[in-house]
Amino acid sequence: MKKLMLTACVLIAYAALGQFQPSNSHWTGARTAVADIENPLDNHEPAGEISDAEAIKTYASMKDSLLRNYASSLVKAAGEYASWHQFNNSPYVSEQHGDRLVNDYGNDKATGYGDFENGGVLPVGAVIAMDSFKIIPSCLPLAITADAVEAGPLFVMEKMEHGFNPGTGDWQFSMISPDGVLVGQTLGTGHDKVQFCADCHQSVSQEQDWLFFLPHKYRREGQRLASETTR
Ligand code: HEC
Repeated sequence: MKKLMLTACVLIAYAALGQFQPSNSHWTGARTAVADIENPLDNHEPAGEISDAEAIKTYASMKDSLLRNYASSLVKAAGEYASWHQFNNSPYVSEQHGDRLVNDYGNDKATGYGDFENGGVLPVGAVIAMDSFKIIPSCLPLAITADAVEAGPLFVMEKMEHGFNPGTGDWQFSMISPDGVLVGQTLGTGHDKVQFCADCHQSVSQEQDWLFFLPHKYRREGQRLASETTR
């Protein structure tokens, strides 16, 4: 029985590692993104008991390849977001985005996001981008296999012109797959594949501008300063 479990463990780790091709930075993990489109509340594998330190280290090691792949979608935000303000101090698990570890970034117009619930309604042109990945811990002792790392989609919300979509506070939602394909944009290409984003986000009150924000523990102090100086 023990032998069987060990074999299963090796196979799982091998399969997960097989999705990572560092050579040309193309992810073959499209299945992950497709599962999200079909059922965003699917019961994904949990991210596991990953410490913040481990999450930070892993993110640092894979960030470049994440960025390169998202950028190949040619979506503007996907190529730019890494130089924006980062609002979290460590990747944190987001159940609603496939139990993945995520990071929140915003462009200059989105600095109000750093005031969280007190930020009010963000201006036209504000963009929030959330990248994502997963660590699948090795189940073998003595690190015989390394933890597996799996890239996730990039989730983007962009504040459009007034009247674009009154039902969702004029936000446009986009999802870019880990291998750099634009899966869809609400009221744009592939609308049907991402309408579920708006369906969930519109449950937040208008005062909070359809934004959920991140858990308190992971909010980075200091982002307030940028927006406070302009008030
Ligand atoms: C079932 C609900 C749900 C769905 C579906 C969902 N989200 Fe979210 N989203 C959240 C929650 C909750 C947060 C706050 C972070 C967290 O704890 O996960 C969030 C955070 C975000 C953020 C950071 C801005 C914020 O609200 O704080 C972006 C950007 C985002 N989601 C984009 C998307 C996109 C794009 C999709 C669709 C591909 C999507 N979301 C689908 C619930 C959802």
